[in-house]
Amino acid sequence: MTKQQDFLDIDKTDTQDIHAILALAHKLKKAPLAHRPMEGKTLALIFEKPSTRTRVSFEVGMRQLGGHVTTLSGAEIQLGRGETVADTGRVLSRFVDILMIRTFAEHKLFELAEGASVPVINGLTDQSHPCQVMADIMTAQEKLGDLKGKKVVWLGDGDNNVLASWMHAAPIFDFTLHVICPPEFVPPVKLLVLMQKRGAKITVSADIAHAEDADIVITDCWVSMHNSDAAVRHQLLAPYQVDAALMKRAAPHALFMHCLPAHRGEEVTDDVIDGSQSVVWDEAENRLHAQKAILCWCMGMTDLI
Ligand code: CP
Ligand code: NVA
Repeated sequence: MTKQQDFLDIDKTDTQDIHAILALAHKLKKAPLAHRPMEGKTLALIFEKPSTRTRVSFEVGMRQLGGHVTTLSGAEIQLGRGETVADTGRVLSRFVDILMIRTFAEHKLFELAEGASVPVINGLTDQSHPCQVMADIMTAQEKLGDLKGKKVVWLGDGDNNVLASWMHAAPIFDFTLHVICPPEFVPPVKLLVLMQKRGAKITVSADIAHAEDADIVITDCWVSMHNSDAAVRHQLLAPYQVDAALMKRAAPHALFMHCLPAHRGEEVTDDVIDGSQSVVWDEAENRLHAQKAILCWCMGMTDLI
């Protein structure tokens, strides 16, 4: 079987392909397909961590494209008893046409892609969440148009997988990214330097005054699924809560974004997430459209639609 294309990270995908995937996502959202490009194809979803949005949007998206889906929990397959992730990829490639994995350390994603002979999609690792940020960029484009020169502000945990994918996107879409976080939870230096070398305009500071005039304000949970230091995180991240006062610092038209699930009263207050600037439900919906486009791109079908 010929391997098509993996979607492992935004920074590991050609810039032109990122734009092509997003163009297709917008198109798929506007007009339902008259044909079934994934007819006869099967997608396997492997989850080593919980999920609501990723699971349902991939399952529904693949079915809408005419394909089939099998969803596997890491604990219930032999992966949980020590079969290597590469061997799991080798075997599943004999049955299915595309694989998606949500896992812990990103080396497991890369090992799966090494072993698999079919495309592999990153459905979140400890280090990144590219499918989420493709949907986020799509949502921001719907609301604000071209993101070039826009001011994007990230509040809270600076060592966060969703933020890392926003950092990967920064040089591609040419927005400025201002990370506001405590010194204890800053982005990985290696990632910051690499993205800055690629032309990303990213600043890191602990001062919420840097949220001034933001076009987009983003946050995520303080304790990600792979974090164990919950008490320390709650204490150090509390000053970075997105509340009405913080949103007042941003531009009046600013969007509030969050990948969800949200922890109301922690990283964001009810009035902000339920307020008129919040686009979190559109973000969630756009997981469906963005991932349908990613699936088609992985199978080399972007021109067929
Ligand atoms: N945002 C996101 O990936 O949600 P789930 O964890 O529910 O999949
Ligand atoms: N940073 C969060 C994202 C959840 C979608 C986590 O990894 O738990």
